Amino acid sequence: MTKKIFVAGHRGLVGSAISEQLSDNHLIQKTRQELNLQVQSDVQIFFETEKPSEVYLAAAKVGGILANKTQKADFIYENLMIQNNIIHNAYKSGVEKLLFLGSSCIYPKNCPQPMSESDLLTGKLEETNDAYAIAKIAGIMTCDSYREQYGSNFISCMPTNLYGPRDNFHLENSHVLPAMIHKFHLAKVQNEKEVTLWGTGSPKREFLYVDDMAEACVFLMEKYNEKGLVNIGTGQDVTIKELANSIREIIGFTGEIIWDTSKPDGTPRKLLNVDKINKLGWKAKTSLQDGIEKSYQWFLDNYQNIKK
Ligand SMILES: NC(=O)c1ccc[n+]([C@@H]2O[C@H](COP(=O)([O-])OP(=O)(O)OC[C@H]3O[C@@H](n4cnc5c(N)ncnc54)[C@H](OP(=O)(O)O)[C@@H]3O)[C@@H](O)[C@H]2O)c1
Repeated sequence: MTKKIFVAGHRGLVGSAISEQLSDNHLIQKTRQELNLQVQSDVQIFFETEKPSEVYLAAAKVGGILANKTQKADFIYENLMIQNNIIHNAYKSGVEKLLFLGSSCIYPKNCPQPMSESDLLTGKLEETNDAYAIAKIAGIMTCDSYREQYGSNFISCMPTNLYGPRDNFHLENSHVLPAMIHKFHLAKVQNEKEVTLWGTGSPKREFLYVDDMAEACVFLMEKYNEKGLVNIGTGQDVTIKELANSIREIIGFTGEIIWDTSKPDGTPRKLLNVDKINKLGWKAKTSLQDGIEKSYQWFLDNYQNIKK
């Protein structure tokens, strides 16, 4: 049976992948120009009129370290407004199920690795993205509070670093994996001898292909009906050096990689414990190699229109 589903943020990395997976349903999609999710009265009218039965809350202000560090007010304000407007009006209009998307930066800076759902609020946050993290933690608490007080079936998931088609490939303002794809691509086409990357390359990070993430979201929407969050990741990490070497090989850049060790490395390791979602019956499928190849192909096919 087809459902009436609102995918908030359907043009973004995650929202577009979720929309693709749900294409057999009646999808409600609104661009920011059609519905600014920060405007309470507009969101209220939208829910009263459309009455979706399910909501995927994948709209948010998202960015890399620099943006998070320098625009804290925008990150906390916009994310709180968007999620409060959607969650509250989803409750008021009788939405049957809502999935809120957070981020792994909600876990404490010095969290034991791999990070489990029970580690939430056990220590201090990383200062560079604490405003964003606080908004996301508030989102989890909002879903749980509406469940407790009103019986709303609102759930939360925390994905690891995501990548894939429709990513932000901006050279300064994006996440590490798409930024590296762009850098190596430019170095290749401009016949550069070397590419300089930040840090020592030794930190370890986890990366999940966005189609796997979308599949996990649809899976949780069908199977998970409890309070508390669910981590979504691969459960495996690689060093930034390994990542850079894989991307260099896939792109075919033959020059050297220079590590600028005067630049900060960040946290040595950030890996999610994914036992909870694995036990529920979901596992990531796409290898990092396959995922990078698909992302690079999308980057090449869409080079004229990407954010750069
Ligand atoms: N990307 C990652 O690595 C990652 C990792 C962990 C968690 N997440 C979470 O996943 C979710 C989605 O992230 P993403 O990477 O898909 O982000 P994204 O590509 O930047 O997409 C966000 C979407 O939200 C929309 N949006 C933002 N503000 C809006 C507003 N005021 N009104 C209407 N629409 C608005 C954007 O619209 P426009 O197209 O008009 O800008 C965009 O389509 C976020 O909650 C994020 O925290 C992402």
